[in-house]
Amino acid sequence: MRQHVNPLSSNFSQIQRIPSLREMFGESKSNLHLDIGCADGEFLFDLALVNTSWNYLGIEIREKLVKKAKLKVLEREIKNLYFLFGNANNILNDFQSKFIIKNLKSLSFNFPDPWFKKRHYKRRVIQPEFINRYKESQQKEGENKKNNKFISRI
Ligand SMILES: C[S@@+](CC[C@H](N)C(=O)[O-])C[C@H]1O[C@@H](n2cnc3c(N)ncnc32)[C@H](O)[C@@H]1O
Repeated sequence: MRQHVNPLSSNFSQIQRIPSLREMFGESKSNLHLDIGCADGEFLFDLALVNTSWNYLGIEIREKLVKKAKLKVLEREIKNLYFLFGNANNILNDFQSKFIIKNLKSLSFNFPDPWFKKRHYKRRVIQPEFINRYKESQQKEGENKKNNKFISRI
């Protein structure tokens, strides 16, 4: 069984610079979907190849998987798919990523690491701080965000 990565480890306290949407997806203004804890990105590759009119962003804390996924994107010349490495909570709570949350049309967490013990709840990828920021951004945008989707598969 895979050992879960501790997202609170000091290895993940610094985040890398977050590229702009233009750096990730060029001039495309397509709807943006974010998958948090995307592993090797299999789910996103499937979506990105079928729904070419959407942009897909994955965040994953295991660097090896992100490197592999990025290489696959380059080799296949996929323009609507991008991966970020790091602790999703540090990335999404950072001021640099404001634009990501603002532009999200849908969001998924598929099978997040459970962290059953109460003393480990802080390690869970779904944290109230992010959910509240996401909710606030949805409320601010009002009507435009009415049909946004939030998917969590456990
Ligand atoms: C059980 S796996 C599910 C992977 C994938 N979503 C799927 O459905 O196959 C959970 C994934 O979330 C990643 N993960 C856990 N905590 C994370 C965090 N704080 N930030 C980013 N990724 C995280 C893990 O490394 C792992 O790849």
